[in-house]
Order: sequence, then C-alpha cells, then structure tokens
Amino acid sequence: LPASAKCVSFLINTGVRTAARQSSSQPKVALLGASGGIGQPLGLLLKQDPNIANLALYDLVGTPGVAADLSHIDSNCRVKAYTGAKELAACVEGADVVVIPAGVPRKPGMTRDDLFNTNAGIVRDLVECIAKAAPKAFIAIITNPVNSTVPIAVEVMKNNGVDAKKRIFGVTTLDVVRAQAFVSELKSTDAAKTVIPVIGGHAGITIIPVLSQIQPSVKFSEDEIKKLTPRIQDAGTEVVNAKAGAGSATLSMALAGARFANYLVRAVKGEKIEACSYVASDAVKGVEYFSTKVQIGQSGVEKILGVGSLSPYEKACVEAAVPQLQKEIAKGIKFIKG
Ligand code: NAI
Repeated sequence: LPASAKCVSFLINTGVRTAARQSSSQPKVALLGASGGIGQPLGLLLKQDPNIANLALYDLVGTPGVAADLSHIDSNCRVKAYTGAKELAACVEGADVVVIPAGVPRKPGMTRDDLFNTNAGIVRDLVECIAKAAPKAFIAIITNPVNSTVPIAVEVMKNNGVDAKKRIFGVTTLDVVRAQAFVSELKSTDAAKTVIPVIGGHAGITIIPVLSQIQPSVKFSEDEIKKLTPRIQDAGTEVVNAKAGAGSATLSMALAGARFANYLVRAVKGEKIEACSYVASDAVKGVEYFSTKVQIGQSGVEKILGVGSLSPYEKACVEAAVPQLQKEIAKGIKFIKG
C-alpha cells in the first residue's frame, strides 16, 4: 500500500480525522526521513533545541536505532520512533511542525530536477497523510527539487480541502548559510553577525544571493559579485562532487534545517520571525512561488516582505530565474493535477 492509503486505514481504525495542533507550550516536531544522511544529524540538533518538547522520528527503516541513540542525550526533549507507512499518521498527529528530508539525494552529474521522478511521489504520499492527521501543522520541505515539491505539497493539501499555502515552507536556509559562510571567509567578517538574504528558488540560477543587502554593510567589487554569486548557486554541486557518489550536503543541511525548524517552532509559540523561505508568494510577477524574506507567526506566513531594493545585476538574476521557476512550479502542479 502507498503511505497515503495506509495512513487513511490507520485513521479509520483509530477514528482520528483532523487532529488539532497540540498545545504550543509543548511543541512537537515530526521528522520524516529521520534515518537518512540529513535526518540523523538533524535529529541530533533538534533533540538539543530547548523549544522542542517532543521529537517524533519517522522513516521506512532504522528509526528505532536512531531514536534509542538520541534518547540517551540528556536534554528535555522526548524522542519516539515510528517505522513504515502504517505508523506515519501516529508520528505526525499533534505535530506543530513537520520537517521533511525524506527522499533520494543527488549523485555527481545530476541536477535537483533529476530527483523529481522519485521524490515527487514520496512528498505527495507523506503530505497526503499529514493533510488527514495533522492538517494544521507547519510543513518544512527539504526534499529536492524544492522548487517543485513545495507546489506539490500545497496541491495535495488543497485536494484534501486544506488551504495550507501559508504553512508550507521550502527550506532554502542552506543557501543563506552558504552565502554567509563564503562572504565572511572572503571578507574576514564575523560569520555569526553576517546576514545575507537569498531569494528566488533552490536550484542553480534560481538561487539569488542579494549581496547588496548584506548586513552589516560590506563593499564588493563587481568581480567579487560575479564570482561569489555562481559559487553560492553551485555550492550544493561542490559538495555532491566532493562526496563522489556518496550523497549531497547532509551536515550543513542539518544545521540549516534545525535553524529553520527552530524559527517555525518559535513562531508557533507566538514570536514573529523574519526569515527567507520558498513559499506561495506574489513577490515577483509571473511566478506563484518565490523565496524572499517573510514574516512568520502563529498562522504561518503573515507577510511576504518582498525582494527589497536590488542592484541591476540582482534584477537580471531574478529575470533569468523566472522561466526556470515557472517550469519547475508547473511540473509540480501538473504531477498532482494530472
Ligand atoms: P538519504 O538517502 O541519506 O536519506 C533519505 C532518507 O529518506 C532515508 O533514510 C530513506 O529511508 C528515507 N525515505 C525514503 N523514502 C521515504 C518515505 N517514503 N518515507 C520516509 N522516509 C523515506 O538522503 P539525504 O542526504 O538525507 O537527502 C534527503 C533529501 O534532502 C534529498 O532529496 C536531497 O536532495 C535533499 N536536500 C535538500 C537540501 C536543501 O537545501 N533543501 C540540501 C541537501 C539535500
């Protein structure tokens, strides 16, 4: 049975239909794909987040071992394992935030879009179950191609009568982390204080670091911008090639995923958070999804904060990204609508 069908039978068996979000004083995070290259270090970081009271780990294999291991860490977060499709609904039920790194990663020579055939179905089936067992959860999607998997998730929710547009987030935090790392190294600035928005999407030229908006202000030569921008865009490929067939970024992605999950949990608890994320957006004409800085609160995306003031080079990058984004968004929507 596909995960979605098993999920439905589980729900019928237990009578669970639309679980309300659990009290935000005891936030629960569900991690789907918890035994993987990203899942394991991400679980390690989430276990240490004092904002998270319950961590539910789901995968097709290996979760009991990962959960046993993590549960020996002396932090207050409680860890529980769920394995296989029939346990998915119980895993996500009552979750405030569901983080999804389930799916296959790239090998050298592959684009993120090459993962579509495998990962689109995985995300569809997982979200189908979330729509029934945790319709109010915030969903953070790490699984590539993010440019397509986010529209897939929104459409699946819609098919289940749930308008989750404001609660589905494509995780682009690694692009921000990389931009900040590369610039602080190049310019010898404090990495912990360097803030750079990255807008657009999460694949190749759709990744647009907005170096002109760096805080605190740093001056770049034209040459530096023309070298840094493609390096940030292709940073994932740098890791894929260095790992030589053993996968893509896992450790830096775990850090980025934990950082973004922390934002979402704090938003659920009542804070207003500003962060970049790939979401349903009207920030740029011609595309329904776009990453910009957004304000996140208890209801999800409360404000799209827009692209801000861009240099002519950055404006050209946005123009170049739009056709690729349109194609990848349409591909995701078509996968669900047929
Ligand atoms: P991995 O292969 O090491 O782990 C994936 C895990 O997902 C495995 O444990 C596998 O059993 C599990 N899985 C597969 N199908 C599943 C299903 N139906 N339900 C639950 N679990 C399932 O891969 P890795 O390195 O952890 O990467 C995961 C995804 O994250 C890939 O799609 C990769 O492209 C993406 N990624 C995204 C980044 C981003 O910035 N958004 C950065 C790096 C990777």
